[in-house]
Amino acid sequence: MRVVILPNAEAVARFGADLVVEQLHTRPDSVLGLATGSTPVALYKRLVQACRTGRVSFSRARTFNLDEYLGLERCHPQSYHQYMRHHLFAHIDIPPEHTALPAGDTEDAFAACEDYERRIRASGGIDLQLLGIGRNGHIGFNEPTSSLGSRTRIKTLTQATIDDNARFYKDDECQPHMAITMGIGTILEARRILLLATGPAKAKAVSRMIEGPLGAFCPASALQLHPDTIVAIDQAAASNLVHGDFYQHVEKEHQQLLGRTGRHSAPLSLPTTKQ
Ligand code: F6R
Repeated sequence: MRVVILPNAEAVARFGADLVVEQLHTRPDSVLGLATGSTPVALYKRLVQACRTGRVSFSRARTFNLDEYLGLERCHPQSYHQYMRHHLFAHIDIPPEHTALPAGDTEDAFAACEDYERRIRASGGIDLQLLGIGRNGHIGFNEPTSSLGSRTRIKTLTQATIDDNARFYKDDECQPHMAITMGIGTILEARRILLLATGPAKAKAVSRMIEGPLGAFCPASALQLHPDTIVAIDQAAASNLVHGDFYQHVEKEHQQLLGRTGRHSAPLSLPTTKQ
């Protein structure tokens, strides 16, 4: 796990967006795994800007989102279909048929889960998976005690997650309690994973993910098994780490080594001074 500690949330968004841009430069027909929630909003803003200025094109990319609420029509304002349209898809040059989210409004949700797995496989698999993390350590909607080998399936949300997401719903609006989510096994098959976390509310989950024991009580800890995961966090989200100084030291050495060998690691916008 490469742990990159950045000064603030804006730097995390810049780091993430640069990584996505570099992925698309290297492989314009990349398959991207996408996340929703508050954390990636600033990253998506940067990608929209990069596309508008011609720095990147999504015309050959394909995307698969992590999750969608079960029982919400895709045109519902709180659906992740609408979130993605609003924050990204409507503003970039990706063909709509290249984008996919789990079908939370289908009659046969079980078949929809199997179909989603089949479509991810048929695309050749995810090249870069973007993740956020829940305060309870969830990734996607894989709540604590999810099987570390799980595939796309229906999950019942914990009260903690329902409470965390209540801010998006009006008082009289019905909030879904179930979702379709890629499984942890599905996520771990991505070739590269980029997890972003910002703010003090994520500090405990971040330290459990990076330094805690591997286990289903913190689903994000399964990323310890993945050979190419980058965790980009701000100082606040890093504040509970026991070995924070060491990760900063490793990152500096890593950058110097890459500089000496003339290789580049994306993105190049890491702070060079000690924070
Ligand atoms: C969203 C998702 C979730 C969020 C997590 C953090 O597609 O899969 O795991 O990444 O709940 O959400 P925010 O960023 O709102 O704190």
